[in-house]
Amino acid sequence: MTELLLRGRILTFHDEPLAGETSPEAFIYLEDGALLVRDGKVVALDDYARLRGGEGRNVEVIDHHPHLIMPGFIDTHIHYPQMQVVGSYAGALMEWLNKYTFVEEQKFSNQGHPERIASALFDELIRHGTTTAAAYCSVHKASVQAFFTEAHRRNMRMIAGKVMMDRNAPPSLLDTAQSGYDDSKALIDEWHGKGRQLYAITPRFAPTSTPEQLEMSGTLVREHPELHVQTHLCENNAEIAFVAELFPWSRDYTHVYEHYGLLGPKTLLGHCIHLTDAEIGAIANSASVAVFCPTSNLFIGSGLFDLARLRASDPQVRTAIATDIGGGTSYSMLRTLDEGYKILNIQGQRYHPLRSFYQVTLGNARALSLEGNIGSFVLGAEADCVVLNARATPAMRIRMETVETLVEELFLMQTMGDDRTIAEVYVAGRAAKSTLTS
Ligand code: GUN
Ligand code: FE
Repeated sequence: MTELLLRGRILTFHDEPLAGETSPEAFIYLEDGALLVRDGKVVALDDYARLRGGEGRNVEVIDHHPHLIMPGFIDTHIHYPQMQVVGSYAGALMEWLNKYTFVEEQKFSNQGHPERIASALFDELIRHGTTTAAAYCSVHKASVQAFFTEAHRRNMRMIAGKVMMDRNAPPSLLDTAQSGYDDSKALIDEWHGKGRQLYAITPRFAPTSTPEQLEMSGTLVREHPELHVQTHLCENNAEIAFVAELFPWSRDYTHVYEHYGLLGPKTLLGHCIHLTDAEIGAIANSASVAVFCPTSNLFIGSGLFDLARLRASDPQVRTAIATDIGGGTSYSMLRTLDEGYKILNIQGQRYHPLRSFYQVTLGNARALSLEGNIGSFVLGAEADCVVLNARATPAMRIRMETVETLVEELFLMQTMGDDRTIAEVYVAGRAAKSTLTS
């Protein structure tokens, strides 16, 4: 049996480096490291000099020096039907949704369109070093079929679900409480746990679901407590006012999801920008995850995610970071970290580069309850890796001349990097970027 040995500088986390580089217990960094992969899984991580001892074995060695090998990046919130929405010139959320997004998503009932976009999406994710994503499909069952079929073919670890929406959108984008439930059930049966695929119960957000649909979503959660739930929360003030009108009995927006049993440790809440203290308490106590979408929040003008406030609550709110394509403007988790850094910095919140790279790997894996599977190189982890080149452009090369430490290099890649920084990607131990055909 052929084993693969990836040699290079290697960085992987086993905890959040809260104190930056003075948290050495939180990460492993090897100057001349080796990652041994068998059957798509990590079987050893050590200095190259120690691991190469197994001569005689059938090992293919690939040396990525001077590049940096890390676990593949994880995007915790992306809309795959919005690849052709990115960069739409809209005002705030509601205009953006009605004028562009809901128009574009209708195309997913066209023959062949979901397949074409799904294929383009996975190419783009790989190009940018993202090996796992939590994705919204469109309301159409066929969009989910296309997504999972392509993810399964590429053996990529993906989380996705059919958007449920039964009001306040164009008629051709609406399901019903019953059909949303039935279609979700059929997709769960077919896809959840097939290869590396995981299903997420996906009511789009409170404004586009009737009470009956949210009730049915809660039923799905009770019937399948192991599944993720993904939705949007408190992104924009007009959205919040609309929810108050639609659900007059609710104390606040978060209470709507709480009422229907949609909060919990597998629940991913996109945005969480405009929250009251009571809402933060409810999110924290349910162990739901607040998902920070920096490029989207800036582009749609939604507001500034207040990480320090969420983490000051007791218990702390669990958090993740994501692109939110196509409200977001880049597929790159490096670009996402860069914009996230600026949003925090403008609020006086410093965020250390080691924490950034923890967040897009192990941090996001933990937020998805997938620690041990993805996001690190612990033994038995799935061998999804990204190979980072800090000298990918002339501007980065000249800047690298003055870089002396790993932390400076990471911060440079976060600040100046994009898809060109991604030298190679491995999906379950298979080279995926150099083998892209388009
Ligand atoms: N709220 C409801 N749907 C969406 C969406 O597609 N994108 C964003 N950013 N917010 C939403
Ligand atoms: Fe979104």
